[in-house]
Amino acid sequence: MSLKRRDVLKLGLLSGAGLALPSAARADYNSGGGGSSGSPAVTPFQRPLPIPPVLAPTSSDATTDYYEITMRQAQKEIIPGKLTTIWGYNGIYPGPTLKVRSGRRSVVRQINNLPESISVHLHGGHTPADSDGHPTDLVAPGAYKDYDYPNNQIPAPLWYHDHAVDVTGRHVYMGLAGFYLMSDAYEDALPLPKGVNDVPLLIQDRLFNSDGSLNYPLNDDTIDKGVLGDRLLVNGAVQPYFQVGRRKVRFRILNGSNTRVYKLALSSGKPLIQVGSDGGLLSAPVSRTSISLAPAERVDVVIDFSLYSLGTSVILKDQGGDGGWGGGSYGGSSNTMDILRFDVVRNETDDSSIPSTLRTVTRMSASSAVRTREFSLGKEWINGRRVWVINGELFDPSRFQATPRLNDIEIWKFRNDSGETHPMHLHDIHFQILDVGGRAPSAGDNGWKDTVLVPSWSSVRVIAKFTDNTGVYVFHCHKLEHEDHAMMAQFEVWA
Ligand code: C2O
Ligand code: CU
Ligand code: CU
Repeated sequence: MSLKRRDVLKLGLLSGAGLALPSAARADYNSGGGGSSGSPAVTPFQRPLPIPPVLAPTSSDATTDYYEITMRQAQKEIIPGKLTTIWGYNGIYPGPTLKVRSGRRSVVRQINNLPESISVHLHGGHTPADSDGHPTDLVAPGAYKDYDYPNNQIPAPLWYHDHAVDVTGRHVYMGLAGFYLMSDAYEDALPLPKGVNDVPLLIQDRLFNSDGSLNYPLNDDTIDKGVLGDRLLVNGAVQPYFQVGRRKVRFRILNGSNTRVYKLALSSGKPLIQVGSDGGLLSAPVSRTSISLAPAERVDVVIDFSLYSLGTSVILKDQGGDGGWGGGSYGGSSNTMDILRFDVVRNETDDSSIPSTLRTVTRMSASSAVRTREFSLGKEWINGRRVWVINGELFDPSRFQATPRLNDIEIWKFRNDSGETHPMHLHDIHFQILDVGGRAPSAGDNGWKDTVLVPSWSSVRVIAKFTDNTGVYVFHCHKLEHEDHAMMAQFEVWA
């Protein structure tokens, strides 16, 4: 094992210092008393689904759209009658949605008016390393950084979120996440539902203190199992309702939770029609009665509300997604939780349809790979503290666990030597899943992906081509408490 002692010290895992919150955040956080009494009660379905505003560019030229975002602290009424301090892009949670075009560059100036250093990562972006939001590429309070995104990739539902080293979990929990939706002329020409019938859904679970403040209980147990909330939020509102017409509606669903894995299903038992995944459209639509969604994964689905009569409601539910440790429980209260209620309130003409062919995903064959790398996922004990490691190593920004050559095709095998599940995510590139526990992925999981759940005591193989960009990137578990402590490693693409 090669745990790096200086990093163990840096993380404060020997002293415990690293687990203390920075004083700037302490006023807004109560990391004690987590979970004992539960969050204040909220009656479900009292609020309409909020839709994050679309951000307009501050300027545009022939090749590029320029955006500006200021990260700042704000207050938001999440629990009725109480104010919650959040950290938001432009002071809102979720952050504003950026709508960009494949092949057209965008430059996003991120101004940090928060009390701590941040790093902004475009998750799913095929981004040059210096704009990728590496966890140690920090922007200090009062400073800004221009993130330069070529958007030279297949259109996909991307998202941006904080990635500051060691504290990503707390920063995202505070609200630092937003959608970055990419499209192109080909996708525009498909008859899928559009405009107000193309709806982003950011699903997150949270714990609240009785005064409405966020409760992020970081301790040995949550570093092990992750922080699980007992309230479900969609686009920043607890269990909202959404009024729909009797027609098809498309949903870009993002699991932005720190740790919780969902198993999404409709209360009617009718299927969700999946048209896309992390990296864009599937070759063909897939009808699924339930869909597992791990942290950072996205699923693009169409629900046909013409199958319901006027005046009925159907609920998007979590059936409990993480077999590894019973992640379906919410404070021990229930194994199934309502996420969002759709109310079918009007008849509506529907000129949309779901084409039988979406966008061809050519499957990569294992034989095209020039090498296979294997990574073990496990935990270590240091002075009675549990930490998460990849190939026995804590995150070490001076080391590389993989050095793929530009344009090489590689197979990466993640072997999970633990009883927890780990959603593994690679920056910069999209991959295809070759197998999970030796079995080929089901339809729906055989498109382009950037995050894959590795089941406990099992393994997953993915295949990818490292194109266009050289430089240093990270890969990590996207359970953010695991990532921060310190289940992350670097790869360097070289020419
Ligand atoms: Cu969404 Cu490195 O993460
Ligand atoms: Cu990422
Ligand atoms: Cu993990």
